[in-house]
Amino acid sequence: MLLGIGHESVIRIKTNAQGRMHISDLRDNIQKAIAVSQMPFAVVSTYGTTNAGALDEVDEVQKVCEEFNLWHHIDAVYGGAVILSESQQHLWPNFAKADSLSFNPQKWMFVSKTCSLLLFNQFSQLEKHFRIAAPYVSENEETNWGEYGIQGSRHTSVLKLWLSLYLIGKDSYGKLIDLNFSITRQFATFITQHEQLEMYTEPDLNIILFRPRQENGQNRQQHAEATKKFQNYLYKQQLYVSPIVWKGTTWLKCIFLNPYFDQTKLDQLIRLIEKYFVSRG
Ligand SMILES: Cc1ncc(COP(=O)(O)O)c(C=O)c1O
Repeated sequence: MLLGIGHESVIRIKTNAQGRMHISDLRDNIQKAIAVSQMPFAVVSTYGTTNAGALDEVDEVQKVCEEFNLWHHIDAVYGGAVILSESQQHLWPNFAKADSLSFNPQKWMFVSKTCSLLLFNQFSQLEKHFRIAAPYVSENEETNWGEYGIQGSRHTSVLKLWLSLYLIGKDSYGKLIDLNFSITRQFATFITQHEQLEMYTEPDLNIILFRPRQENGQNRQQHAEATKKFQNYLYKQQLYVSPIVWKGTTWLKCIFLNPYFDQTKLDQLIRLIEKYFVSRG
């Protein structure tokens, strides 16, 4: 949008059952585009998709980018915070090889909005391709950050991030993220074991898509209505799960991000859900 290249110039890549980019489809599409004299120049992978929290295999995407000499941008806006947790090391990709990466401390680092980072592998790339000199403000030799972004004048958003890191610290952030993971896993196990509920896929992060199972004889519309009814029930109990349309059908999205949503709250949630299905017989 911002580059003015238009939606029609963006090539959509298929995702697998877990919502991750298909590496073979990525490679096929690049080859097809080159074969018809198009010029693919960049690949955007997502480390923590908005709907399902899926983690693209960014190391594999990186290899494809190197093979075809393409810029690799990682949208780690949501999932990037995982690197604050030592116990989630098995999830850590090699972010350092990508050309650029976006990350929002306003999400899983709980920093108040807006606080968003765009990081570049090589400062010289940023300088060469993105700097627009504004001689009227360059008064000395120091870097003028207003020349490197869309907004010239802006708040010092980084101060909030710096203070949060200073006060909370990396280890405590890690513990909060671990709590979110622990709650998510327990909830995922509960959904999987509950006969009247289904989950879209095993969560990569702290986002779960779930809903009541489609009952025998229930059509798609009736199933969507039953999902909505269940959501309303939770809403009346002051629990908001957002309904989203994902791969053509309605799901309820639960994000375990709130650091105050602890074991007690999870037990309450589980009891409420059990009560709902017991009362329906
Ligand atoms: C994966 C992902 N990328 C990008 C964005 C957009 O971030 P921003 O609010 O900074 O525009 C979101 C917002 O939810 C997101 O989930």
